[in-house]
Amino acid sequence: MPLSRRTFVSALGLGGIGLMSPSPLGGRGSEARWASWTAAPGAKADAKAGATTAALIRLDSNENPNGPGGRAFEALRAMLGESNRYPDAAEVILVEAIARAHGVRAENIVLGAGSGEILRMCVEAFTSTSRHLVSASPTFEPPEVFARLLGRPVVTVPVDGALRLDLDGMAAQSVGGGLVFFCNPNNPTATVHGELAVKAFVARIRRASPETVILIDEAYHEYVDDRTYATAIPMATTDPRVVVSRTFSKVFGMAGLRVGYAIAHADTARTLQAYRISSGTSVLALATAATTISDQAHIADEQRKNREAKAFTRTFFERAGYTVGPSETNFLMIDLRRDPMPVRVACRAHGIAVGRPFPPLDRWLRVSIGTMDEMRQATEVFRTVLG
Ligand SMILES: Cc1ncc(COP(=O)(O)O)c(C=O)c1O
Repeated sequence: MPLSRRTFVSALGLGGIGLMSPSPLGGRGSEARWASWTAAPGAKADAKAGATTAALIRLDSNENPNGPGGRAFEALRAMLGESNRYPDAAEVILVEAIARAHGVRAENIVLGAGSGEILRMCVEAFTSTSRHLVSASPTFEPPEVFARLLGRPVVTVPVDGALRLDLDGMAAQSVGGGLVFFCNPNNPTATVHGELAVKAFVARIRRASPETVILIDEAYHEYVDDRTYATAIPMATTDPRVVVSRTFSKVFGMAGLRVGYAIAHADTARTLQAYRISSGTSVLALATAATTISDQAHIADEQRKNREAKAFTRTFFERAGYTVGPSETNFLMIDLRRDPMPVRVACRAHGIAVGRPFPPLDRWLRVSIGTMDEMRQATEVFRTVLG
């Protein structure tokens, strides 16, 4: 049966038939699945670190341990029968759902296979051999990696002593630049800048370097509790040189399905579309995303679970005498006051995967927040490993 808009909508349950069933991916369930997939010969190097993959608790990639939620799974299953079709209609439906969710127009939205694709598109579109990228150190690295791969110059500005992006330094470096990558909240430092600071930053760059595009990565938007923070989406739809990127990989629990998007002025969105790999996202991912974006109960539930498990983990480290950075995300940065690498290796040997090193922060460990049960197990391991 061809995929008409109507059959697609009813397959998704967007007509109000969405089923609320418990997620088949519980925290431990997802690990078990992952373990069985990666148990194939040669699939993983975990054995080197002494851990069996079956027991691995993954606190290394800022994923959502709970998965996409019951309604999303229903949508995914319902779309399996459309797997033989190209995703054009499904893209239209998701774009409409995103536009509704943010109160913007479909022409403001560009889809990507994860927001990583959006970051790549922005680097390709807006930097050149004569127009550099401004990024931070440390921040989410792919924009810098893409730029270097393409032979585009890169300037990085270190975070300050409070693990915050140095917005003054980044604005100063933007002059003549093609693109400024502003990760808010920032990964891996977990800090956020409030609405006024973001507006002042954009205004300063606008004055100093009117042609420079500012890419504001809001991957962790839903985890922010800081009341001074607000999304930059209203700025992105009106200013052709501001782009906001969002992802379904974090609070929506779809990191393996690969969907993200940009919100931008219609002209800027058109420019970006040219750099997109067409039909790059599967119907399954698109259908799941279209359902989960409006599932407010699921979002609230994930926010609450993250808040509770994060508070538990913070308390553990602080009681153990460590400084924990502020966090407006689903991960924590902990000042171990020593090289985190041996700690990381020892944790892995006990079945806990934690974040890799993030130079120049050579004493800090990044720990993603898992389920409460996972964090209870992990903190027992941290207690042993940290002595
Ligand atoms: C700040 C930030 N942006 C983007 C991404 C990429 O997300 P996606 O899975 O949408 O490509 C991540 C992933 O960890 C991230 O931390």
